[in-house]
Amino acid sequence: MRAWPPARQPPIGWRRPLDPPLTQRTAPRLRFVLRELRGVAEFRRRQNPVAEACQRGRTVQPVGCRDVTTRLVVLVSGAGSNLQALLDASADPAYGARIVAVGSDRRGVAGLDRATAAGVPTFVVPVGDYSDRSEWDRVLTARVAGHRPDLVISAGFRKLVGPAFLAEFQDRYLNTHNSLLPAFPGIHGPRDALAYGVKVSGATLFFVDAGVDTGPIVAQVAVPVHEDDTVDMLTERIKDAERRQLVAYVGRLVREGWTIAGRKVTIP
Ligand code: GRF
Repeated sequence: MRAWPPARQPPIGWRRPLDPPLTQRTAPRLRFVLRELRGVAEFRRRQNPVAEACQRGRTVQPVGCRDVTTRLVVLVSGAGSNLQALLDASADPAYGARIVAVGSDRRGVAGLDRATAAGVPTFVVPVGDYSDRSEWDRVLTARVAGHRPDLVISAGFRKLVGPAFLAEFQDRYLNTHNSLLPAFPGIHGPRDALAYGVKVSGATLFFVDAGVDTGPIVAQVAVPVHEDDTVDMLTERIKDAERRQLVAYVGRLVREGWTIAGRKVTIP
C-alpha cells in the first residue's frame, strides 16, 4: 500500500483531522489544553525574533519561516477555468494549499493569464521546443520539480507526461477528466459520450499512471445528459460539476492525506 503523506514524513501543512469531532464533553478539556499550548508557543516566540516575524505574516518572510501550506503546481493548456476555481479556493488559508506555480505546454493561453493576474509565477514548456518527447518530459519534470510541489494537478493539460515525470511525481499527480471513466477516455469525453447516447455523464478525478486516463480514481460526479444537448452544452454542464469536485477533493487530499492500495484511493 502506498500512502501519502509517507508515515514518517507528513508534507508541510498536512494536518490530521480531529476525529471523532468535538463533543460537548471533550470541548472544555480541549479548550484548556489549547490555551496552555498557546501560552507555551507565545513564550517561545518571544524568545525567537524570526518566529515572531513569521507569525506576524509579513509579505517578505525572513529566512527560516516555515511554509505552512501544501504546495501545488497546476498544469494547463487552455481556458483554465478549473485553475481559476483552485486559485479562488486557495486564497483562503483554511483551504490548506496554495498554488506556487502554473505551467503550460502552450504560450499565450488564458490559463497563464489567470495565474499572472493572481500573482502566481508561470512557465511554458512547449513540446516543439525539444528534439524529442523524452527530452521535453525531462525538462517539464525539472521545471515542475523546481517549485517543490507536494501535489501536481493537470487541470486541462492536454499532454501525456512521460516516464521521468511519472517517476518524480508518482502517486501525487492528479488529473481531472470530463467523463465518467473508464468510459470515454481521451480529449473528446463529452463529444464521445453524446455520440454514444448515454443518459448520464460526468467528471472523474484520478491519480495519473502510465496509461491514458487509467489511473486510480479519487472521485466521480454524475451529470445528466439532456435530450437537446449539444457538445458545448454538455461540456459546460460537466465543467461546472467538475470544478466543484476538483476544489472539494484537492482540499480534502491536502488536509487529510490519502492512501492508494492497488486501484483504491482512500482519504482517511
Ligand atoms: C476540463 O473539462 C478537463 O476535464 C478537460 O479539459 C477541460 C479544461 O477546462 N481535460 P479548463 O481549461 O479548466 O477551463
